Amino acid sequence: MKNKIVVVGSSNIDLIMKMDRLPEKGETVIDGKFMQVYGGKGANQAVAAARAGGNVAFVSCVGEDAATPQMIHNYQKDGIDTRFVFHEKEVASGHALIMIDRQGENIISVAPEANALLLPEKIDQAAPVFDDAALMLLQFEIPEETIKYAIDLANRKNIPVMWNVAPAKPFDFSYISKTSILVLNEVEAGFLAGIPVSNAADAEHAASILVKRGVEKVIVTLGSKGVLAAVRTETVFVSAFQVEAVDTTAAGDTFCGAFAVGVTEGKPLKEALRFASAASAISVTRMGAQPSVPTRPEIDNFLHQNIVFE
Ligand code: RIB
Repeated sequence: MKNKIVVVGSSNIDLIMKMDRLPEKGETVIDGKFMQVYGGKGANQAVAAARAGGNVAFVSCVGEDAATPQMIHNYQKDGIDTRFVFHEKEVASGHALIMIDRQGENIISVAPEANALLLPEKIDQAAPVFDDAALMLLQFEIPEETIKYAIDLANRKNIPVMWNVAPAKPFDFSYISKTSILVLNEVEAGFLAGIPVSNAADAEHAASILVKRGVEKVIVTLGSKGVLAAVRTETVFVSAFQVEAVDTTAAGDTFCGAFAVGVTEGKPLKEALRFASAASAISVTRMGAQPSVPTRPEIDNFLHQNIVFE
């Protein structure tokens, strides 16, 4: 049976400052702690899927920075197929500046750099990787034309598409109905459905609007409030695991990668949601994007220690 998860998306180098509180406009806050780690929504999701036990191939573009070879080496250490991580000349790899406060909440600014060169022709070059794909996983940190091209290709090849429309920005909404699974946070769900979303009831309403537009499953992550999934016939809600957050960066990415594994392993919806929520809960207890992503034994152990009786 096909089980490959093909992730098409961004690779970034994350420059992180952890501080007591975020600065106001024009203000300087000192006593921050600095870290440089690997990130990017695409890469984080590829790493999360691989560590959760998935068979993962990653399609991405990187640049010429000194830190880039280690980035690729790390993907390979996690067992990711990097044959179609393209090395671009005379451009930097994508970078993100991330400031994190005491509660673990962040603000992020991204310079796409090499990620902007992940154009449709690269999807053609990576075509062999789609032959044994069970799922294609996308985010929104690469050009829209590439997202559309990849979705059309996946539709032609009958590969289900899971799209984490993050960060949300205007796009050709006709592509919503070409997607099997949408994974959205409250802001993204509100943006796509055209209604404000601030609680589980709003999330359910937004998800039902998107299901009516032809998406098979809509997942809305609500952070510490849990996660909601809507399919045509039912809505499923899973509470969040209560943990002490130090850094929420890549919590959503970790959820997406682990959820993709749950889907390709054929887990029932509620079980897949719980599996992904556990992975995400672990990630927020650790600093950094990829350094925070848990392995399969860590997720299984966490679930074992946090059994939910219903
Ligand atoms: O989702 C978190 C990621 O967003 C960070 O790793 C950063 O690189 C930005 O892309």
